[in-house]
Amino acid sequence: MKYKDLIEKMTLEEKASFMSGKDFWQTQDMERLGINSMFLADGPHGIRKQAEAADHLGLNESIPATCFPTASTVANSWDVELGEKVGRYLGEEAVAQKVNVLLGPGINMKRNPLCGRNFEYFSEDPYHAGKLAAGYIRGIQSRGISACVKHFAVNNQEERRMSIDTIVDERTLREIYLTGFEIAVKEGKTKTVMSSYNKLDGVYTNENQHLLREILRDEWGYNGVVVTDWGGNNDRVAALLAGNELEMPTTAGETNQDIIKAIKDGKVKEEVLDENLDRLLDLIFTTEEVFQGSYKKEFDIKAHHQFAQQVAEESIVLLKNEDNILPLKKDAKIATIGDFAKDPRYQGAGSSIVNPTELDNTLELLKASGIHHIGYEQGFERYGKKSQTKIDSACALAKEADVVLLYMGLDEVTEAEGLDRSNMKVPENQVELLDALHKVNPNIIVVLSCGSAVKMPWIDKVKGLVHGYLSGQAGAKAVLRVLTGEVNPSGKLAETYPLHYKDTPSYRYFPGKEVSVEYRESMFIGYRYYDTAKVDVLYPFGYGLSYTTFDYSDIQVNKDGVTFNITNTGDVSGMEIAQLYVGSQSEQIFRPAKELKGFAKISLNPGETKSVTIAFDDKTFRYFNVKTNQWEVEEADYQIFIGASSADIRLTDTVSIEGTNAPIPYSKEQLPSYYSGKIKNVGKQEFEALLGREVPVATWDHSKPLGYNDTIAQCQYAKGLFARFAFQAIKFSHWFLKKIGKRDTANLIMMSVYHMPFRGMARMTGGIMNMPMLDGVLMIVNGHFLKGLKHVVKERNKMLKSRKAIN
Ligand code: BGC
Repeated sequence: MKYKDLIEKMTLEEKASFMSGKDFWQTQDMERLGINSMFLADGPHGIRKQAEAADHLGLNESIPATCFPTASTVANSWDVELGEKVGRYLGEEAVAQKVNVLLGPGINMKRNPLCGRNFEYFSEDPYHAGKLAAGYIRGIQSRGISACVKHFAVNNQEERRMSIDTIVDERTLREIYLTGFEIAVKEGKTKTVMSSYNKLDGVYTNENQHLLREILRDEWGYNGVVVTDWGGNNDRVAALLAGNELEMPTTAGETNQDIIKAIKDGKVKEEVLDENLDRLLDLIFTTEEVFQGSYKKEFDIKAHHQFAQQVAEESIVLLKNEDNILPLKKDAKIATIGDFAKDPRYQGAGSSIVNPTELDNTLELLKASGIHHIGYEQGFERYGKKSQTKIDSACALAKEADVVLLYMGLDEVTEAEGLDRSNMKVPENQVELLDALHKVNPNIIVVLSCGSAVKMPWIDKVKGLVHGYLSGQAGAKAVLRVLTGEVNPSGKLAETYPLHYKDTPSYRYFPGKEVSVEYRESMFIGYRYYDTAKVDVLYPFGYGLSYTTFDYSDIQVNKDGVTFNITNTGDVSGMEIAQLYVGSQSEQIFRPAKELKGFAKISLNPGETKSVTIAFDDKTFRYFNVKTNQWEVEEADYQIFIGASSADIRLTDTVSIEGTNAPIPYSKEQLPSYYSGKIKNVGKQEFEALLGREVPVATWDHSKPLGYNDTIAQCQYAKGLFARFAFQAIKFSHWFLKKIGKRDTANLIMMSVYHMPFRGMARMTGGIMNMPMLDGVLMIVNGHFLKGLKHVVKERNKMLKSRKAIN
């Protein structure tokens, strides 16, 4: 142990006091031994340091910081070095605000397009997400502080995120849901990992020995700190044993007492606490070195804004360019329509919300852009219903224009933490506007702002489609520069855009509605499914256009990697993202048709040719064998594909690879869906054969009294009349708030009340309520009103008395 001497000077109580926060954002300190507290702040695309009222829902304001494009946006750049640079800027701002741990990046897989937090994540591919995240982490940590990769793991739905039990087979867990984290840990060398709220196979991830010990520490050699997601602690002692050093936010010491008791009772060895504390102290000491000398308390706001613009420029994706409507022709008369042109949609809602230092706005920028702009019309109300008057005014303006720029997108309330989207549509009133505009002017370019995939039954009505994603505080300028051709777009999608929501592989298995969510589609998420099952999509993974064209030639493959040439065959400079996919030709072990194993971004002048090499690595041919319980390589011929997207393969070759001779882990007859990749309708028996165990009951057990980990929503069938009444009142207020247009407050109710487990009342209230008081609440819920009420009052008095005695 590095800090043995220091730890030996502490009492048991003192040691335990470090295991949970001092307040909402800070860790415990100890003047006597010279230990300062550490500040943790969100993340991930800007700093959200709250100076005053603290919350983890993005409600109260934070100190201004640069709002960079969100992860789903930067993902489209496929540029690891750019990610690293973003990390350096984030790290610099974190240092200026005296933040020790920046709570990001978030790298959960985009299992389903409706996950409300997809805008905060990179990709549907673990290799891609892991590489980008590792770049961010290296950048952030180069400033002397710590990144915090989150949410570990399988946190792929927002609703019921604090209670849902994810049922996933071990191979899929390793290959799809953990590989990104593995890269973040091994290549990014993150110093902090945040465990997720959910359970994995019946055990909270934060207490999960398999996840936190066997995989994270023993296999990956992780030596840093694991922090809970805010309020995500369930059993503090079980979490300590699994290697969770820090519970956040504070529980006013309540859970520290659990640790002390477990040690005194001999249930836990004091060495376990010492080891956890040793790692936590290391994080505290190493991330405060930067603050000991003179450090920069300010950053160059203008330069950071400028860099945010550059990041957006590299991340914008051109999805359609019929008749080369883009870049805009000089002197063409341009009409701008759509609420988002005036009031940009540039980030998502929830704990990641940044208070930007500046905010670009298209209408303002148009004045100085050189574009022949003839006017603006709002066209639709962001949160409103169809307005014929607004449509009429927009059409009148469109008639006068050569080209219409239509700014569409999702609103802030639709893409939010704690909630999933209910469909993949762009709001109806925007589509109605587009229909009307198309009748008066067919030259429409849509500028889209949203952080996740939407469906586009309207795509034939537009000639140009520029997807800015959520491009941060300088995104408006970046988009304009793409429209005018000052910037040649080079972004490519890091997620598939299906034609219909029902085409998505997890359509039938998302979200988990009561106890659990079953990942029956296994590893066939995103393009892995569409390619294998041969399902048409709107835009494939890896897709994006440019104002120039690229030719691929001369592929050469050997055991170390693949080399090929790319030529810019157009007449402007541009950047191309070449993608390496690998597919096994053996049919012994089921696999997706192809999987991403590398990529390169190359900048080329007109006519220029460059030779590109993408090296193979330890992940190129491996698969996780559930019989040997380790990574293996199957002896086989592998196809090497070089593509401009997952669906646009330009070069192919084959390589024979020696295997590790592991036994075949599956019986083909038992897993027909998985061997064919047609996994839309996997039966229970087949899923159990894949899992190697029974699937637990997925529905609530109405006969059992409600407990700590049941959710407030379950009050609907509680024994206590009061609880059932409270449930109806919550439901009614949600419905009513939505009806009167207060969707954000309605969402808040769903997120922070409806889906909250009862234990959250004690874990998230900073000590206002403790677990014994919660026992009283549960008595009331379960039908013992008076007894419960008395218990609450008694326990509250006890708590207040003991606090008084301590103070
Ligand atoms: C989110 C985390 C965030 C934390 C602190 C939680 O609700 O899931 O991503 O870092 O709050 O704000």
